[in-house]
Amino acid sequence: IIDRKVDSVLNLMTLEEKVGQMNQYNGFWDATGPAPQDGAAAKKYDHLKKGWVGSMLNVRGVKDVKVLQKIAVEETRLGIPLLFGYDVIHGYKTISPIPLAEAASWDMEAIKKSAEIGAAEAAASGLNWTFAPMVDVARDARWGRVMEGSGEDPFLGSQIAIARVHGFQGNFSEFNLAACAKHFAGYAFAESGRDYNTVDVSDNTLHNIILPPFKAAADAGALTFMNAFNELEGIPATGNAYLQRNILKGEWNFDGFIVSDWGSMAEMINHGYAKDLKQAAEYAANAGSDMDMESYGYVGHLADLVREGKVDEEKVNDAARRILKVKFQLGLFDNPYKYCDENREKETIGKKAFHDGVLDMAKKSIVLLKNENNTLPLKKQGQKIAVIGALANDKTSPLGSWRIGADDGTAVSVLEGLKQYNGNELVYAKGADVALGNPMFIRETKINMTDKSGFSEAVNTAKNADVVIMVLGEHGLQTGEGRSRSEIGLPGVQQELLETVYKANPNIVLVLTNGRPLTIPWAAENIPAIVEAWHLGTQSGNAIAQVLYGDYNPSGKLPMSFPRNVGQLPIYYNHKNTGRPIEEAPESVFWSHYNDVDNSPLYPFGYGLSYSSFEYSNLKISSDKLTTNGNITISVDVKNTSKTDGKEVVQLYLHDLYASVTRPVRELKGFELTAIKAGETKTVTFTINEKTIAFYTANKKWESETGDFKVYVGGSSDATLESNFTYTK
Ligand code: IFM
Repeated sequence: IIDRKVDSVLNLMTLEEKVGQMNQYNGFWDATGPAPQDGAAAKKYDHLKKGWVGSMLNVRGVKDVKVLQKIAVEETRLGIPLLFGYDVIHGYKTISPIPLAEAASWDMEAIKKSAEIGAAEAAASGLNWTFAPMVDVARDARWGRVMEGSGEDPFLGSQIAIARVHGFQGNFSEFNLAACAKHFAGYAFAESGRDYNTVDVSDNTLHNIILPPFKAAADAGALTFMNAFNELEGIPATGNAYLQRNILKGEWNFDGFIVSDWGSMAEMINHGYAKDLKQAAEYAANAGSDMDMESYGYVGHLADLVREGKVDEEKVNDAARRILKVKFQLGLFDNPYKYCDENREKETIGKKAFHDGVLDMAKKSIVLLKNENNTLPLKKQGQKIAVIGALANDKTSPLGSWRIGADDGTAVSVLEGLKQYNGNELVYAKGADVALGNPMFIRETKINMTDKSGFSEAVNTAKNADVVIMVLGEHGLQTGEGRSRSEIGLPGVQQELLETVYKANPNIVLVLTNGRPLTIPWAAENIPAIVEAWHLGTQSGNAIAQVLYGDYNPSGKLPMSFPRNVGQLPIYYNHKNTGRPIEEAPESVFWSHYNDVDNSPLYPFGYGLSYSSFEYSNLKISSDKLTTNGNITISVDVKNTSKTDGKEVVQLYLHDLYASVTRPVRELKGFELTAIKAGETKTVTFTINEKTIAFYTANKKWESETGDFKVYVGGSSDATLESNFTYTK
């Protein structure tokens, strides 16, 4: 029915109006003020009235949205409603942990819930479309946007993509948003981790590693996709027909629409692919990029390109059809003001239930990296606790990057969280700044971050304490888009601060707040307890305090490997074996290794401790033969050997020993987050079949191949319990 409705609208449209649907503008004028009279805003306003705009981004709040929607609906010839897009990446006003942190929970229900919260708040504010989830598999922590994804694994990334798409979109009610899987494709593979840099990956990596989460998002019903800033095989993603037409709209049958990234159409000129904006528009339209975000290429040139025969009008029809379809799916043709209820907006934003939800998500996202001599949990009474680090007293940093709807200063700081526990005496010292001035301009702040004048106060505070909590890491805006780093240790003088305080009192709990894996070899060696607390959003401080005091038993597991040093990057658990794996000749020089550092990461993918301890045993496989229509089960006993109830993420990895193309040494193929009471043993069972072992083969097809497989089960990617099976057709 929707398709018929779409066609009935399309049939009424002029070429310019169809092209108009393909045009998205950023709103930067005061929508409720007088109509803009000159400059870019006046032009956009004029286009809006002509029906030459299909969508706006960065206009939010019911009042503003209503004004612009009213123009589209009441003043244009056909009254086609607008889509209002916004980056609701990890919440809107009430902020959830950064997506990388959420991935560390391995808890799909919680992640879905978190997306639901972000959607409900944003939808109450007039928005109907989020530019999320970002499903880019990322292997290089120098790239600042690793904070926005689900880490290094395509399987975990796919499950999370599904959870987020479902969470955002729900059943397309007024509490939901259209989702947008981005950035299609390969953006995270920017050379040297430098944002927007060239991407050069093989077809094998593209299909086996990069594309699976996108496929999962498409299958989960994501209404839109966003293409990417990068090139692939020498062709910018926005002009890449192989990605957009052949794979996404062809093989995968995706019937939503693709929006470009901001200005990415025009950037094809800088790439050296298009000679001017007109040619960029031609390439983008022909390649299947349906909506132009802020390049002005379609609105300026596409109608002419059609008239000149450079772009077939059917391609414009197809793009407009896809965009109109999404508008129908969201119910905007029935009620363009579906998301514009001022009372709902007032009642919804910042609801208590949302704060409870993001707190729950934040606790689940924390990863305990080290806990020597049960340093944690902290005693609740009679302790003198020194809290050191500027980030402990920061109410903005925990919101992280890409949370543009939130107001600065609205997070619970670590210090505030710790103060809820009043049985201990707390003393705070800043020690050193992490970011000065406006962290949006991080290059400047890096230069200023050398001041050590706070060290002596920090040392004195630590000296007299029973326990020292040091909150160190990156400011929330030191990661994210355009914030690549060539060194990924503790920024500024924080490492020196840590070592200086350690000399005064080594009984340190290091709380890391960061948006990417950091290199912390010294801390891993010397500091007794390390808690990875990422950027946990609005309720950050409460979540951290509850974990430190043992009111919440951490169960997070790393979604990205932590390297020993930056030279190991890119580092990821599902690497290939090479012809000369170091395990075979550890004493020789001529095997794949470094002279100055181990091959292994400091903390591997899937790793994370708990206040409970778990023992794995009794790995059983129902058969050592898998056939095409059959399945086999793999079970393992997991015992909580501690006196504390806890949760464990039980992980299943396979190794395909030989194949038509080389395969990773391990691949995650299943996981289960399970609660295990103190002293209890649980049996966890995984079922695998032919689909589990399929991959993109030398035939350039997704299929399974006969052969031998190893099975590993455990609590991280270096699990040692193993078994094996053979697959025959
Ligand atoms: O959604 C983002 C994208 O991820 C990066 N460029 C800008 C877009 C819209 O804000």
